[in-house]
Formats: sequence, structure tokens, C-alpha cells
Amino acid sequence: MRDLCASDLLDWYDAHARDLPWRVGPRARAAGQRPDPYHVWLSEIMLQQTTVAAVRAYFLRFSELWPTVEELAAAEDTRVMAEWAGLGYYARARNLLKCARQVVTDHGGAFPTTREMLLTLPGVGPYTASAIAAIAFDEVATVVDGNVERVVSRLFEVETPLPKAKAELTEIAGGLTPMGRPGDYAQAVMDLGATICTPKSPACGICPWMQSCGARASGRQAKFPVKAPKKVKPVRYGIVYLARRSDGAWLVETRPARGLLGGMLGWPGSDWGERVPEEAPPMVADWRDLGIEVRHTFTHFHLRLSVKVADVALEAAPRRGRFKADFRRSDLPTVMRKAFDLAVGELET
Ligand code: ADE
Repeated sequence: MRDLCASDLLDWYDAHARDLPWRVGPRARAAGQRPDPYHVWLSEIMLQQTTVAAVRAYFLRFSELWPTVEELAAAEDTRVMAEWAGLGYYARARNLLKCARQVVTDHGGAFPTTREMLLTLPGVGPYTASAIAAIAFDEVATVVDGNVERVVSRLFEVETPLPKAKAELTEIAGGLTPMGRPGDYAQAVMDLGATICTPKSPACGICPWMQSCGARASGRQAKFPVKAPKKVKPVRYGIVYLARRSDGAWLVETRPARGLLGGMLGWPGSDWGERVPEEAPPMVADWRDLGIEVRHTFTHFHLRLSVKVADVALEAAPRRGRFKADFRRSDLPTVMRKAFDLAVGELET
């Protein structure tokens, strides 16, 4: 069953592989072409917890700005953080830089070629190491992301709920991985999960694995993967202060390197806690509360931010933060953009 399954999927992939900017498609690969390991690594870091649709533009921008790992390693931290803004999970961007620098200093600018060695790099966990090893170096490594978990749990009707089922699903997925074309195979399973074996209304009628799929046979596609009930996310509260100076500069602050949104640009404000905080504003000004909260959901909590705005004079001196004349909205993480959009609407009217 092992190789039969893989070859059905690979035939499907040969005809239907998605055209992705970091990918060398099956035809070019058969002709001996391999993707640049730097591109594979960059795309896989960006694709952690993030959709292909969101990653595309960021990948193109990064690979244009920094075409090699050496150039990325030499980039300024603030520049890289600003380009990452909007993609979320900002620890990834900090590790991206750490990793690029480690590849240059410890490996002469060449990515390690085995899963085991890739695992020693910052930001590269079991999933990412397998993906790079398989896609860039054709190692027989098994890639298990959310797509693969869904495909395998349906094929074998795995009743154990996630996340507990992870080890079981990884074991089964390992048994399905073929010795030949492991790089194409890894990408083929991801494509199958993303385009056919989708979370809702899977297109079972055109699935290359429909004959072997347990969930299709029993009509229980919607049941898998079984998931443990979600924990209710707590709500946290905070305040942000947005001051616009008469010359158009905005009062901003670089957030501490550690913690959520670490190293990103943001608005001065309070800590985020269980109650609406009392916080001294970053400067003396005629602060107005917008009366609308910014709402944003992080992995472990919902955040509600009160937004206070002020127009301030040129000579005004802040106690916290700095006025930035060349401020760009796109340098902000999404939650801070939301506050900016509310504030601009208020200040302009
Ligand atoms: N999701 C994560 N890695 C991917 C890849 N290499 N191709 C498509 N989707 C992915």
C-alpha cells in the first residue's frame, strides 16, 4: 500500500502542483533543478502558522531585498522587523535574523543539508527541518503540518483528538513517505490538504487517494481530524496613546526585545492585564479617548485596547518614545495598525 499511495499522489502532483514563488515545480525538478535552500528556509519560516496567500507578497519582497542569506544576515534588525510587520508571530523574524547570521558565521553561508543539522538552527523545529531537508535536499523526511494531519487522520480515521494524536499521525505519515521523490512528495501532501482535502467540503470526488480513504468510505470526512475542545481565551485590556505632532511626526516606541511583538514598532501605552489599567500618558497633552476599542486576537488571549489621541505642538517633549518623521503605517504590527487607522479617522475629522 505504501508505494501505491505515494505514486498516486505524485501523479496527481505532476498534473496539479500549485505554482508558488519559492517552489521548483515537478517538471523542472525532474530535469534536475533544485530550489535555493535559502528560499526554501525563508518560505517555510514564513509559512509557520500563516497561509500561502498571506506569505506570497512577503516572500517576494524579502527575496528581492535580500537575495542571499549573507545579505539578510547583514541587514539591520529594525529594517527586517519593519518588513515583517503584518505577518504576525514576530519571534519568527527575530529568529530569522539569528539563523541567517548563524548560517553565515558557523556554516560559511551554506545551509546545513541534513534534518539533524538543520534542527540546530534558531527557529527551525521538527516540522521546518523536515520540510527543508525534503524540499531542498531530497532527504526522506516526513513533513507533518496541519494539512498533513487532516489528510492522514481522514485516510485512517484516527479517533484520537489533536494535539494528543500528533505522535500517531506522524508515525502513520512516516510510513507513507516514499523513498523516491521525497521533496515532491512533501509538497504534494501539503497541496492535497490545501486544495482537495480541505477543512470544509473536501473535494473527495477528485482526490487521488479516494479509493484508500477511510473517512470517505464511511462518509465521516467532517469528523476528522478530531480536536480536543478549545480552551476559552481570556480577555486582556490595555491603553495606547497616539500623538501626532504639528509637522506630521508620530510618537512611537520600539517595544522591548522580549515578549509579544518584541522588537516591533508600536505606540506608547500600558501593560496588558486583566483589568483596564491606569497609565500615565507618555507626555502632557490634551488627550481624547476615542471611545472605540481596538480588538485583536493573539494565540493565547483576546486584547482590547483603549485608544487615546492628541495633536501636539512642535516643541512638545515626550517622557516616553520618540517622534518619527518618516513613520510608515506598514512598519507596524497589525494590532498597532488598527489603532492607527482609528486615530487617523478621528484626527482628520
Ligand atoms: N505550507 C508550508 N510549507 C509549504 C510549502 N512548501 N508549500 C505549500 N504550502 C506550505
